[in-house]
Amino acid sequence: MELDTGKPLIGEEEIRARVTRMAEEITRDYRGRELVMVGVLKGAFVFLADLAREVELPLQIDFVAVSSYGADTESSGVVRIIKDLDLDIEGRDVLLVEDIVDTGLTLKYLAGMLRERGPASVEVCALLNKLDARKVDIVVKYCGFEVPPLFVVGYGLDYAERFRQLPYVGVLKEKEGSGEES
Ligand code: IMP
Ligand code: MG
Repeated sequence: MELDTGKPLIGEEEIRARVTRMAEEITRDYRGRELVMVGVLKGAFVFLADLAREVELPLQIDFVAVSSYGADTESSGVVRIIKDLDLDIEGRDVLLVEDIVDTGLTLKYLAGMLRERGPASVEVCALLNKLDARKVDIVVKYCGFEVPPLFVVGYGLDYAERFRQLPYVGVLKEKEGSGEES
């Protein structure tokens, strides 16, 4: 697979504008409360960094890490916690921050796990939403963009740990010329 270096799927400016709007919405919804933002590593690190700096609320930030697809582009359906929260979330308002919701399996599992710890609330905020790929129902309260069922990279999202640093969201495509991908 390689990066389609044509037009980005979502450009830098478009992302910036949308993240600002999402931060305004979150600021309004949680006014007067302190929020615990939980980023899902590694993909959410760029989005969370930008979002958190625009949310005008007292914040605590924590991360969880779950097993990913490895170098593959398909969901195994198996979710494994690699790094748990450092914070105690009992009685707290928790916002799970994800890069992309694909099958929904990761967030379904994570939200369920966090709800067992007695938080005041758990909501989901995702930069991207691949609606067509959903296998389980989850409510994404704050959603940046709907994307088609393509494999996307950049702005935190990777393919085999590459492309996370791109400031925009691009699409991966089969390598041209070679019948086989590498
Ligand atoms: P889900 O459990 O199928 O919803 O998978 C969500 C996770 O899979 C995301 O947090 C991403 O890390 C990864 N993922 C899903 N689709 C893509 C994609 O198009 N590009 C990069 N990572 C993806
Ligand atoms: Mg992820």
